[in-house]
Amino acid sequence: MLGFLVLPFKMIGVLVHFPQFEPTFNITQFFPELHSPFAQNINTKLLSPIIALFVVGITAAYFCYRKKNAKAKSKILVLGGTGYIGKFIVKASAEAGHPTFALVRETTLSHPEKSKLIETFKTSGVTLLYGDLTDHESLVKAIKQVDVVISTVGGQQIEDQVKLIAAIKEAGNIKRFLPSEFGMDVDRNHSVEPVTSYYEKKVRIRRAIEASGIPYTYVCPNAFAGYFLPTLGQLNIKDPPRDKVVILGDGNVKGIYVKEEDIATYTIKAVDDPRTLNKTLYMRLPANVLTFNELVLLWESKIKSTLERVYIPEDQLLRYIQESSFPANLGLALGYSMHVKGDCTNYEIEPSFGVEASNLYPEVKYTTVDEYLNAFV
Ligand SMILES: NC(=O)c1ccc[n+]([C@@H]2O[C@H](COP(=O)([O-])OP(=O)(O)OC[C@H]3O[C@@H](n4cnc5c(N)ncnc54)[C@H](OP(=O)(O)O)[C@@H]3O)[C@@H](O)[C@H]2O)c1
Ligand SMILES: *[C@@H]1O[C@H](CO)[C@@H](O)[C@H](O)[C@H]1NC(C)=O
Ligand SMILES: *[C@@H]1O[C@H](CO)[C@@H](O)[C@H](O)[C@H]1NC(C)=O
Repeated sequence: MLGFLVLPFKMIGVLVHFPQFEPTFNITQFFPELHSPFAQNINTKLLSPIIALFVVGITAAYFCYRKKNAKAKSKILVLGGTGYIGKFIVKASAEAGHPTFALVRETTLSHPEKSKLIETFKTSGVTLLYGDLTDHESLVKAIKQVDVVISTVGGQQIEDQVKLIAAIKEAGNIKRFLPSEFGMDVDRNHSVEPVTSYYEKKVRIRRAIEASGIPYTYVCPNAFAGYFLPTLGQLNIKDPPRDKVVILGDGNVKGIYVKEEDIATYTIKAVDDPRTLNKTLYMRLPANVLTFNELVLLWESKIKSTLERVYIPEDQLLRYIQESSFPANLGLALGYSMHVKGDCTNYEIEPSFGVEASNLYPEVKYTTVDEYLNAFV
């Protein structure tokens, strides 16, 4: 039986026509138990090509399997990759091994900082495509090259995404579209102006996607850690407070803060996941669901001192929002929704509409708020 191991080498001999390796053996050499005259007459010259074909078949099947697996990583196009959250998304996509494409505006190439960022895209193997949200042809051309479209365009471009929807529809090949969301759930909120109008734009884009029949995922990470934690949400300061802290409401409402890199990691994991198809992906990372009071206590324990607390009751906050101008009113109104009304956490995530990122991807070791704050002590 052991002699059977020699067979592949003998077969290579057949395939490449090395006569000295050509099989000159009899099947009974390998299967001594076969003593019938029939077995003894099976010429291995006949048998070898059959086995060789079999080996070739197995090898071909293996490579097909590998190719199919490589294909399972969707090609991703990011619109808004040069923006605040977009750059993390582009990086995470390339690092996860997705063929990654970034649609950038040609004029941005001459922007001093953004041109450096675009260089880093190139070195990470990202394919640059030139275009503009308002240039239909450029969109269709870019979309036809990929499987998934992620939009991280900014607040000023939310409505213009109808142009992206039209281009995706025309291209007809997109397996998943992630519109520019990346905040709280705009379908479940208790916001006031100017946030309400902003959310209405995102809501209209959601309804347009659903009406157009494009498969989607809405990503709701809640608050970007980098926007909120370095100042503990205090306006007009650059470093975390060390003497006094302003708290919206009574500080007992739970908010959620997620580091940008983690938002990007979860987002990229979701694009090929059937569990997130036509669902909202929420990030309610257990260690990062904290009330404002808990957040202040955590910060105090790190700096080993006590802050003076200034509470702003709801009615006073609403007055401030009305009296202040952009962008302070937007920041305060977002704070109202999150810290007073609890819009990050005041509803259950039902399987009919949503999934939670840390449940779906327990392997991701996300950065906790506790760890995040260490950088500022
Ligand atoms: N949860 C939170 O705490 C939080 C915080 C901030 C933002 N967000 C949300 O995150 C999303 C992205 O916001 P962001 O602040 O990251 O955006 P941003 O920094 O303003 O970036 C906007 C991006 O869109 C691109 N863009 C603008 N006009 C375009 C056009 N006509 N054609 C193609 N691209 C165009 C910009 O490209 P150029 O580089 O060429 O200008 C840039 O890459 C928004 O939905 C926003 O509401 C959430
Ligand atoms: C959330 O805001 C939208 C408008 O942007 C509104 O239509 C909707 O009723 C709100 N939902 C809840 C639950 O407050
Ligand atoms: C996903 O939603 C789109 C509408 O945006 C719809 O056309 C499609 O059939 C849905 N897919 C599944 C599997 O439900």
